[in-house]
Amino acid sequence: MVLTRRQIEVENRRLIDERELLQREIKEWNKELEKRVTQKSRELEKAHQEIIQAEKLAAVGHVSAGMAHEIRNPLNSINLFAQILLADSAISDENKNYISKISHEVERIDSILVQMLASSQNEAKNAQKVNLQEIVTSVLRSAQPLIEAQQVELRFDSEEDIPPVHADPVEMEQIFTNLIANALYEMPEGGTLKLLLKADAEKIMIHISDSGPGIPQENMQRIFDPFFTTRSKGTGFGLSVVLRIVNNCGGRIKVESPPGQGAHF
Ligand SMILES: Nc1ncnc2c1ncn2[C@@H]1O[C@H](COP(=O)(O)OP(=O)(O)O)[C@@H](O)[C@H]1O
Ligand SMILES: [Mg+2]
Repeated sequence: MVLTRRQIEVENRRLIDERELLQREIKEWNKELEKRVTQKSRELEKAHQEIIQAEKLAAVGHVSAGMAHEIRNPLNSINLFAQILLADSAISDENKNYISKISHEVERIDSILVQMLASSQNEAKNAQKVNLQEIVTSVLRSAQPLIEAQQVELRFDSEEDIPPVHADPVEMEQIFTNLIANALYEMPEGGTLKLLLKADAEKIMIHISDSGPGIPQENMQRIFDPFFTTRSKGTGFGLSVVLRIVNNCGGRIKVESPPGQGAHF
């Protein structure tokens, strides 16, 4: 076949156009691939963080459960002896006052240890159908005196038919008790506590937010760690308990704290 000069030029042009098109396509593919790699890396990093967090919880749980058991025995003896002394009529009122303080402080340590044990337990013992609206309502009822005393405005919204969850009701209560207690702690002089329950076909979403000072960026990574607390009388167990329960139910928990807008769980 013999091509005329004109035909060759046309053919060349076509080939050049095709090459440019291919080059453009390759570029776009590259971009797409890069995007996917970045996203996968991010997901991997997140999964890695979650594994570390779970291992940390398990390790601390194991050690603290052992310690808690050991410490509670002598504590109970101390308390028992304190009670015996308190019943002794030969002891002055002033000294009885000291003894009751000892007993009170011992009980405080004991309750911290009980929380420590709770935060290290792994299985929900008593799973059943749980209505989350009822749980929230009952936790809010207990928190009502504090809400009123601190003049906190409460907004609780729930979609009508939140399906029941299969969980331990005591554990579900712990989630709300801890998150609500944390929120109220941050609003001693008033603010807004918002709770929202929503459900779609696969999941139930629980939003709890406050209008307190929020969580500084540098603490964000640590608030779920057992023992991490910024509060003088805090134990640092609340959120680690919440995380363990949520994880055990196959759920997820996220926190956001945009500057000046409180904390949102
Ligand atoms: N709603 C909140 N607003 C601001 N900071 C919070 C909030 N909830 C938790 N935090 C931070 O996370 C830390 C850990 O909370 P938590 O595990 O419940 O332990 P604790 O309440 O005993 O300190 C708190 O000390 C506080 O620094
Ligand atoms: Mg707390």
